[in-house]
Amino acid sequence: MKDASFLKFTGRSSKAWKNRSARFPILGSVALVAGAAGILMAGTADQLDAETAARIEKAEKGPAVIDVSKYPAPVQESYKLFAQKCSQCHKLSRPINSDYALPDEWSRYVKRMMHKPDSNLDKDEAKQIYEFLSYDSSIRKKALVDEKLAKASPEEKAAAEKKIAELRAKFDK
Ligand code: HEC
Repeated sequence: MKDASFLKFTGRSSKAWKNRSARFPILGSVALVAGAAGILMAGTADQLDAETAARIEKAEKGPAVIDVSKYPAPVQESYKLFAQKCSQCHKLSRPINSDYALPDEWSRYVKRMMHKPDSNLDKDEAKQIYEFLSYDSSIRKKALVDEKLAKASPEEKAAAEKKIAELRAKFDK
């Protein structure tokens, strides 16, 4: 009887052991995946070079809103969309105080943000925000725009001036 219960015991224990070892590979791979994700996430953070990180930190310390009270009504509407969509992942002060100012810079940046996972931004919204940011920069960041245009090639300068003129004509009536 003793032997039998011993066998039964070993039997159960070896079954329990099997169950546990069967679960181990799963736990192991969960840990691996989590570890890899951790490395990947750290990787993305590390990819922000020191210069970019410093630029972003400086921007985020600046004003968190734009006074749009003197802008035309449609531009004020677009500001609401911008404020809602562009504060989902980081502070709105990041784009508000960034050193992007030319239409092409905003086009590139808004597209870049649109393609981030879960950006919750469609093409029409992205275009509206691009127009808002380019219009706003041409007024609020005029000195920066002029400084950038002075350094641009004649073609780039002409293209930027054309886009700004189009936006101003569209909204300033
Ligand atoms: C899905 C998340 C997400 C959304 C939505 C988002 N951003 Fe970003 N943004 C990021 C991340 C992540 C970074 C930092 C890394 C990078 O530049 O890709 C960033 C960085 C920035 C920067 C700083 C870049 C630099 O190099 O100085 C600006 C400006 C910016 N975003 C503007 C915007 C604007 C404008 C919108 C709305 C159209 C927006 N973001 C919406 C995730 C997002």
